[in-house]
Amino acid sequence: MTTEPVRAGSEWLALREPADAAARAPVLVEALRTYLPAGGTEIHDLGCGTGSMARWLAARLDGPQHWVLYDRDDELLALASADPPSGAADGAVVSMETRRRDITRLDAGELSGATLITASALLDMMTADELHRLVATCVRAGCPVLITLSVTGRVDLAPADSLDRCVMDAFNAHQRRTTGIGRLLGPDAAGAAVDAFTRLGHDVVVRPSHWRLGPDRSELAAEWFTGWLAAACEQRPELGVAAHDYARRRLTQASAGALSVTVHHRDLLAVPGPAAGNALSELRRSRHDDA
Ligand SMILES: C[S@@+](CC[C@H](N)C(=O)[O-])C[C@H]1O[C@@H](n2cnc3c(N)ncnc32)[C@H](O)[C@@H]1O
Repeated sequence: MTTEPVRAGSEWLALREPADAAARAPVLVEALRTYLPAGGTEIHDLGCGTGSMARWLAARLDGPQHWVLYDRDDELLALASADPPSGAADGAVVSMETRRRDITRLDAGELSGATLITASALLDMMTADELHRLVATCVRAGCPVLITLSVTGRVDLAPADSLDRCVMDAFNAHQRRTTGIGRLLGPDAAGAAVDAFTRLGHDVVVRPSHWRLGPDRSELAAEWFTGWLAAACEQRPELGVAAHDYARRRLTQASAGALSVTVHHRDLLAVPGPAAGNALSELRRSRHDDA
């Protein structure tokens, strides 16, 4: 049983940043605008890594912004400080600070100035207790919460291979493994977050934000595939030789630009509701949730 949290490497985060930026659902940012104060926004980003959410979102919002970035990893926080967002959509000033924290044990007072809370690619490594604590802390802050790129567990590879399903199931079982802090939520985390926000009175909408990795993202596809398969084999060592052959087939396809991968994710926007749900109701009318 592992007790140490798995570290997100800065090279992996840099490799995925453009695909993350292309995948996040812009329609939720449109909806979000109506809930932000006119005079300036204080945005708290939880599990910031190297700061990719701030770089992505600051440039899509108008007006002065102050970003507070939280992570437990000093090295990633230093990289975030070195590469802050360059400005708001309308050219207004964007400032930033970082805080080294365990975001599952935040003091509610820390978020009291927030007018928006964000997170990205964060939820799957949490236990149910951690997630519920985090959602309760966010709800106490009384502002909108945008959580992007939570994995759903579904992956589509083309061309199809007879081992795809078996590896996907083993990977998802690995994501739901029991560690020293309890059972991780893995692909169940996004649904658990929606339920928790809803139970605590927030109005929530969900939109798909899938990674679509074709020949133009073959390096990310190969890196993602290698990690995906390694986790599956750790969970089911009996995959052994079959997994070895499968890896050779898939990586040959990736390097020839002949592999396409869709990794399914969900973005969610939760706002204090239900009276606040005007923009969200509009969204629901315009399109069904298909995540
Ligand atoms: C997959 S990375 C995503 C980073 C960033 N949000 C992005 O989209 O590039 C997850 C990040 O959450 C941080 N993290 C995970 N659990 C945490 C916790 N309990 N407290 C603080 N940071 C945490 C990790 O250190 C890592 O930087």
